Amino acid sequence: MPQSQRRILVTSALPYANGPIHLGHLLEYIQTDIWVRFQKLFGEHCIYVCADDAHGTAIMLKAEENGVTPEQQIAQVKAEHERDFADFAIRFDNYHSTHSDENRHYSELIFSRNKAAGNILEKEITQLYDPDKGMFLADRFVKGTCPKCGAQDQYGDNCEVCGATYSAAELVDPYSTISGAKPVTKGVTQLFFNLPKFTDMLRGWTRSGSLQESIANKLNEWLEAGLQPWDISREAPYFGFEIPGYPGKYFYVWLDAPIGYMASFKHYCDQHGIDFDSYWAPDSDAELYHFIGKDIINFHGLFWPAMLEGAGFRKPTALNVHGFVTVNGAKMSKSRGTFIKARTYLDHLNPEYLRYYFAAKLTSKVDDFDLNLDDFVQRVNSDLIGKVVQIASRTANFVNKFGSTLSSELDDPLLVADVQAAADSIATSYEAREFGRAMRDIMALADRGNLYVQEKAPWTLAKQEGNEQQVLAVCTTALNVFRLLVLYLKPVLPQLAEKSEAFLNIAPLQWQDAQQQLLTHSINPFNALMQRIEPASIESLLSASRDITAAAVEIAAAQKASSGKTPSTKQLPQGDSNIVSDDISIDDFLKVKLRVAKVIKAAHVDGADKLLQLTLDVGAEGTRNVFAGIKAKYTPEQIEGKLVVLVANLAPRKMKFGVSEGMVLAAGPGGEDVFLLSPDSGAEPGMEVR
Ligand code: MSP
Ligand code: ZN
Repeated sequence: MPQSQRRILVTSALPYANGPIHLGHLLEYIQTDIWVRFQKLFGEHCIYVCADDAHGTAIMLKAEENGVTPEQQIAQVKAEHERDFADFAIRFDNYHSTHSDENRHYSELIFSRNKAAGNILEKEITQLYDPDKGMFLADRFVKGTCPKCGAQDQYGDNCEVCGATYSAAELVDPYSTISGAKPVTKGVTQLFFNLPKFTDMLRGWTRSGSLQESIANKLNEWLEAGLQPWDISREAPYFGFEIPGYPGKYFYVWLDAPIGYMASFKHYCDQHGIDFDSYWAPDSDAELYHFIGKDIINFHGLFWPAMLEGAGFRKPTALNVHGFVTVNGAKMSKSRGTFIKARTYLDHLNPEYLRYYFAAKLTSKVDDFDLNLDDFVQRVNSDLIGKVVQIASRTANFVNKFGSTLSSELDDPLLVADVQAAADSIATSYEAREFGRAMRDIMALADRGNLYVQEKAPWTLAKQEGNEQQVLAVCTTALNVFRLLVLYLKPVLPQLAEKSEAFLNIAPLQWQDAQQQLLTHSINPFNALMQRIEPASIESLLSASRDITAAAVEIAAAQKASSGKTPSTKQLPQGDSNIVSDDISIDDFLKVKLRVAKVIKAAHVDGADKLLQLTLDVGAEGTRNVFAGIKAKYTPEQIEGKLVVLVANLAPRKMKFGVSEGMVLAAGPGGEDVFLLSPDSGAEPGMEVR
C-alpha cells in the first residue's frame, strides 16, 4: 500500500427489511456505488458496507401479516435486496444484517460505555397501550381527532390538516391502528440517551465544514431550538435486541441501525484481516462517509455522532446527503405506475441506463431528483449510443478489416492528448460528487471525438486503394478517444467498461491508465456494446408497475358520474350481443378497486359551480386529484380531513378543469342531496374496501 493511499470506509443507509428496493432507494445506492468505484479505480483503499435494517415494530407486524417468523421475513427480504443490488452492479464489499452477532456486540458495547459515562437516564413516562394487542404503541400506530382543528384520523404526533404538533395522548378519540382498540395510558420506565449533554460537541462537529451547507443549517436550527433526551428503549413485544440488565426492554431500532454500519464492517474485517479499531478509534486517520437521504439527517447528524462520542469511538468524516426521487415531476405513485421496483425495472431495461441518468443529473447538493422518463430515453440514447458507443462502432470494423492491429502512431495526437489531460478535472468532479459535471465534461470530449471521425470519414478514405495506413491511424485515434471515455465512465458504467475492455483486448482499466495510449495493439472483433432504449419498453415498464386491472370495468356508477345522474342499473348500456342483466358477477365487482382515502385538501374550482377539487391521500399509493360534484352540499372546510371511498381504478378522465383520477362514492340524487360515504374511524388511507 503506497504511503499516500487514503483509507476510506463508506456506507449507504440500511434499507428496511419489510419491503422491496425501489427507484428512490436506488438513487442512493447508485450514487454511493459510483463514488466508491471511482475511489477504487483511482487507487484508494476504499471499503463499502451496508446491511438490511431488520428490527422494529413494522417488521414484526409485517412478519405476522405474512404468517412467518421475523427471522424468516428478514432472511427472505435480504436475499431479494442482495439480488436487486447485484443486478444493478451495486458492489458492496459486505452486505450484512442488523440482526447479527456483531451488531448485538457493538450495540451492547456502545450502550454500556454510554451508561458507564453517565449518558443514560431512566425516566418514568406515560405511554399509550393497546389493550387488545397487549403492546405499547408508538405515535405512528395511534390515530385520532386533532385536538386543535378537529380533523379526524390524524397521526399521533402531528396533524396533516392544520400542522399542529402534539403528543399522542392529546388526541381526541384515539384508536390503535393495529387493532382499532381505544388505547389506555400506562406508566412505564424508559431509558433515555442524554443528547443535550452533547450540544457543544455537536455544534463544533456541525460547523467543522465537511457537511453540506443546507444540512449544517438544518442541524444548527435543531441545536438552537434545544435538544431533548432521546428515548432509546422499547417494551416487549418488540423484534430487536433485549437490553442487558433490563429484561423485557429492547433497544429502539434507530439505536442499533447505525451501529449496523460498524457490525457489517466488523464482519468484513474478520474475513479480510483488517484492523477494525484503526478505523473506529477517536484518532483514526481513516475517513468515514455515510451516504443518506434527507429524511434521516437527525439520526445521522445528532444521535449517531453523540452516541459514538459517548462510547469513545470516532465520528463520521462527513454525511453525504441526497434529495428525494420524483418521477415525471410527482411523488412516485402506484396507480400511475411510477412506483417502480428495482426488479420491475430490471425486467424491462438495462441497469446501466439508470446508472447513467442518475449520474448525469446528480450534484453534491440535497435537491430532489426528478426522473423524467422522456428525458431519460432521450439522454441515454443520445449520449451513450449516439456519442460514446458510436465512436467505436464507426471505426472498429476498419481496423478489423486491415489486420486487427492498431497503428503505431496517431493521426491526431493533439486530440488524444486533450482527452488524456481531462483526467484530473474529471477525477475532481467525481471526488466532489459532482457527477453531472463529470458526465457533461465526458460528453463534450465524446462530441469532439465524433466530430473528428465525421471530418476524417474513414468510410470514404477506405474506398481508395493505398489509404490503409491512414485509415488505421484515424481509427486508432478514434479508438484511443473511445478507450479514455470508457475509462472515465467506468465508475458509472462498469458493464460497458468490461465489454469494451474485452473488445479492446486490454486488462481492466485503472485511472492512471489515462496517461497511456493504445498503439500497435491487436483488438478483437466489435460487437454491439449497448442497445438504444425503445420507448415501448418504458410503456411496458409503467404498465407492469401500475397497480390497476388494465381494462377497468365501466361500472354503472362511473357512467352515471359522467352524466351527472343517480346511479341506476336500469341505465346500463343494453348491448345486443352481450345481454347485460342487472346482476353482475362477484368477479365483475372485484374488478372495481375501492380504497379508503383521506381528503387532505379540498378547493373551489374557478368557473365550476358544482365541483370541488379534492386531493386525496391513498396511503402507499400516494395522492390523487379528483373532481367531485358535491359543492352544493359541502364546503372545503367540512370535508378536509374526512375519510372517503375512492374508486381507484377508473381510467383517468380529462375534464375542462384538469384530469380526474378516480371518483369518490356518495349516496343520494345529487345537488344538495348528496351524502359522501365515509368509512368508520379506524380505517386507514389505502385500505381495500370490500
Ligand atoms: N432503515 C432506515 C435507514 C437506517 S440507516 C442506519 C431507512 N430505510 S429506508 O429503506 O426507508 O431508506 C433507505 C434509504 O433510501 C434512506 O437514505 C432514504 O432516504 C432513501 N430513500 C428512500 N426513498 C427515497 C426516495 N424516494 N428518493 C431518494 N431516496 C430515498 O430509512
Ligand atoms: Zn389539526
